[in-house]
Amino acid sequence: MKIKKAIFPVAGLGTRFLPATKAMPKEMLPVVDKPLIQYAVEEALSAGIEQIIFVTGRGKSALEDHFDHSFRLEQTLISKEKNDLLRQVQEIIPESGTIVYTRQNQPLGLGHAIWCARDIIGDEPFAVLLADDLIMSGKSVLGQMISKFERLRASVVAIEEVSKSETDKYGIIDGIDSGDNMVEIKGMIEKPKPENAPSNLAIIGRYILTPRIFELLEKQQKGAGGEIQLTDAMASLLDDQPIYGYKFSGKRFDCGSKAGFLKANIAFALENEEIKKELIPYLREISKENGV
Ligand code: G1P
Repeated sequence: MKIKKAIFPVAGLGTRFLPATKAMPKEMLPVVDKPLIQYAVEEALSAGIEQIIFVTGRGKSALEDHFDHSFRLEQTLISKEKNDLLRQVQEIIPESGTIVYTRQNQPLGLGHAIWCARDIIGDEPFAVLLADDLIMSGKSVLGQMISKFERLRASVVAIEEVSKSETDKYGIIDGIDSGDNMVEIKGMIEKPKPENAPSNLAIIGRYILTPRIFELLEKQQKGAGGEIQLTDAMASLLDDQPIYGYKFSGKRFDCGSKAGFLKANIAFALENEEIKKELIPYLREISKENGV
């Protein structure tokens, strides 16, 4: 079965970026000139996703406006003959009816956010993308994972090695290497302390899941941080279905942290020849000033 639908949980408060996120959704923070959410949506569309499902919350209307026409802006760009900018703002907008919004009306965690989209997904496998995890890659990571799913017909999650001291920031898996960058997952645990972590393989925010996960999320059991965790539901899913970890190819930036967000901005800026010309000498200069 083809993966046609993708869930984007975007209801989080973005407290780590306050005060920037007081009146603006964290998913709208720009990396160079594009908001984080746009990178994730473009990744999904390029992987063949046909329906974008935003699980949103209060104060997120800028997200809806971003993926909609702004007639005033477009008229201004037309009259000033800024055709390149006009193309860019129009290209963002998926075809009418492609985006569906639902609300998570209580901050109960990632698992709960996914569960909020159960009726929109129905009985088919689907993707989840967390916009905080921005990945620079040739072929989109979701596209890479869909190829794996089509062969295995089982849930696939993106994984990456992290340093042992950071396991308490991620879902951590336990598994057996099955070759071809795949790991057959045997167990997983959300945000374990380093001493309790079964490995240093962390789940990164790209998932392809079977609809059985909704039955497990339905139980609404609270886990790490008092939240309903997707990782806990996936750990239960392992009792009756296999799940594979996929070591994707690409460079991931943790844009949920300030340092990761700034690194992403530098890395993506260096992809632009014009900015690169100014940025490289500046980076050299400040490195020298800081004794590196
Ligand atoms: C979420 C998941 C976690 C995963 C991480 C990837 O955590 O719960 O399992 O490793 O995303 O970014 P969060 O970053 O929302 O705390």
